[in-house]
Amino acid sequence: MQRSTLLEYKNYRYFKIASLLMIAAVMAYLFDQPATGAYGGSWLGYLFGILSALIVIALILYGVRKRLTPMRTEQRNLLDASSPQQDIPDRRKREANWLRHHGATLHGWLSAHTYLGVALIVLATLHTGFEFGWNIHTLAYALMMVVIISGFYGIYAYLRFPRLMTANMRGSDTFDTLLLEIDDLDKQASVKSLQFSDDICAIVRKARQETLIGGNFFRQLTAYQRNCPTARAVQQLQVLGKSLEYDQLKSFDDLYSVMAHKESLVRRARLDVMYRARLGFWLYLHAPLSIAFLTALIVHIVAIFFYW
Ligand code: HEM
Ligand code: HEM
Repeated sequence: MQRSTLLEYKNYRYFKIASLLMIAAVMAYLFDQPATGAYGGSWLGYLFGILSALIVIALILYGVRKRLTPMRTEQRNLLDASSPQQDIPDRRKREANWLRHHGATLHGWLSAHTYLGVALIVLATLHTGFEFGWNIHTLAYALMMVVIISGFYGIYAYLRFPRLMTANMRGSDTFDTLLLEIDDLDKQASVKSLQFSDDICAIVRKARQETLIGGNFFRQLTAYQRNCPTARAVQQLQVLGKSLEYDQLKSFDDLYSVMAHKESLVRRARLDVMYRARLGFWLYLHAPLSIAFLTALIVHIVAIFFYW
């Protein structure tokens, strides 16, 4: 059975809830005609503000919920370890059921998180009555929008990259096995290169010593090394191979195919680093900015009641 994506969770349950919420909010906004004009301090403005704040609390609680799941798993493992008389297959089955249930619950939380986050755009914007200025209230609003936009990227990344990562790993390989294979090919290439000229040995040595996988933030995100020594080695070997004697060609072909194979593995290892970086970096923006937003929101509310 194929598992639904987080956007489709339980037949679009949270999409429906968020849509109803947004439609009701827009209708109420259009029908309500306060004498003061629409603004955060009208009764409807307050209702939208309070609803928005409740949604923000639910969104922040997702982070708490996410961290509690592994902690509870550990607690459970400890409890199970202290009852050795229990049947092990039975214990494993219960553990697997528990994880499946709580994994699904977290999936549901993230689905709700996504759609409620979108509904927040409508509710909070209607709450402001489209009044913005250079003040803490608008700062709270701007931070909220940055958090939400980074969240959109996050959902895109979660839906796109895991599939690409699996395809890139071609089933069984892991990143560590790729590195081991690359190391092995490097050793083979070094040995095979010894029977050729110093130029060829130097090219192979450089490819072994200076090829980088990962590295700084930019390299991780782009899977790119300028003048990659391995890619250059493959190109240079193609040229140098043309000037070899006939009896050297068989061994040279061996060396060339080892280097070409290494180049394809290096590319795959870099792609894996890239996917993981693109999957993870936005959370360094999303999570801290959500706390900054919460702080600005609290200041906004305190300021409102202070000047009231
Ligand atoms: C996500 C949550 C919220 C955001 C992003 C937000 C943002 C804003 C913004 C940008 C304004 C317009 C400020 C201006 O006129 O320059 C505003 C007005 C206001 N907000 Fe909020 N707000 C939120 C929640 C709340 C809550 C929970 C309350 C109260 C319980 C509240 C009470 C008010 C009031 C009374 C005003 C009118 C201030 C005035 O014009 O005098 N807000 N809000
Ligand atoms: C103001 C609105 C939002 C707030 C305050 C908020 C807050 C949070 C928090 C606290 C986390 C947990 C971070 C962590 O555990 O490292 C989180 C994770 C996440 N949020 Fe939001 N978020 C908001 C809106 C959104 C929106 C609109 C989307 C999607 C369109 C979204 C997508 C995500 C995703 C994909 C994760 C990571 C889930 C995971 O790694 O398990 N967020 N958010």
